[in-house]
Amino acid sequence: MSSAINETPGKNASEGREEQLCRLVHHLIRKNDNEKARLARELHDELGSNLTAVNLDVASVEDKLKSVDPALAVRLRRALESLRTVVGLSRRMIEDLRPSALDNMDLAEALRGHCEDLAERTGLECATDLPDDLGTLHRDSSIALFTVAQQSLGNAAAHGKPSQLTLSLKADASGTRMRITDNGSGLPDNPFDRLSGHGLLEARERISMVGGTFEIRRGENGVGTTVDVFVPSA
Ligand SMILES: Nc1ncnc2c1ncn2[C@@H]1O[C@H](COP(=O)(O)OP(=O)(O)OP(=O)(O)O)[C@@H](O)[C@H]1O
Ligand SMILES: [Mg+2]
Repeated sequence: MSSAINETPGKNASEGREEQLCRLVHHLIRKNDNEKARLARELHDELGSNLTAVNLDVASVEDKLKSVDPALAVRLRRALESLRTVVGLSRRMIEDLRPSALDNMDLAEALRGHCEDLAERTGLECATDLPDDLGTLHRDSSIALFTVAQQSLGNAAAHGKPSQLTLSLKADASGTRMRITDNGSGLPDNPFDRLSGHGLLEARERISMVGGTFEIRRGENGVGTTVDVFVPSA
């Protein structure tokens, strides 16, 4: 006879399971982030520095070879170009693995840079309203806000076919508010329930992990989509 724990249906049992699943999701998000950060570090420290060293060596040989054996120098130049492509690729991979922009700049600056990149890549207008001084924000909160901004802007560009995106950030004593809007086609019914994607679920959990709230709805006058995020002060 089996005596399973927590299999009895009932209010307390189901509430307990929901909490456990929530804890599991938060743990998996953290684990995934740590794993990505470790991979990014290794790629940067091992692969990146070795590629840079090879690049410098090959460049200096190519320089000397030009006068001695021009045909060989041309082949070496091609190898050098391929190497530079690989260096660029590894930089992009590192960047995708962790928001390294946050390592050397503050959240507002990193968001501005991200919007500029996105506008350049997609041709969409991406207006920002970011304060000069955000006050002190816990690093986990900065990472959560940055990641959710990336996901939300990515969603707008991918699904909404908008012509314009906006991102604003405001901070007061209670916390930081971030709003992202687009003038695209707007949300389908029950966007959190779509089996094909998990971005919104992840965004909501990331923000709940830092004690905040995540809301997504139709935009003003039914146009496009608005995402509102609030993260409380530490
Ligand atoms: N700004 C938006 N405009 C229009 N539709 C949106 C927008 N944001 C989300 N959606 C809709 O909500 C759905 C769920 O979004 P979600 O980010 O969870 O998944 P996804 O983008 O499809 O996949 P992924 O897991 O790669 O993020 C999308 O498939 C899309 O239909
Ligand atoms: Mg998505």
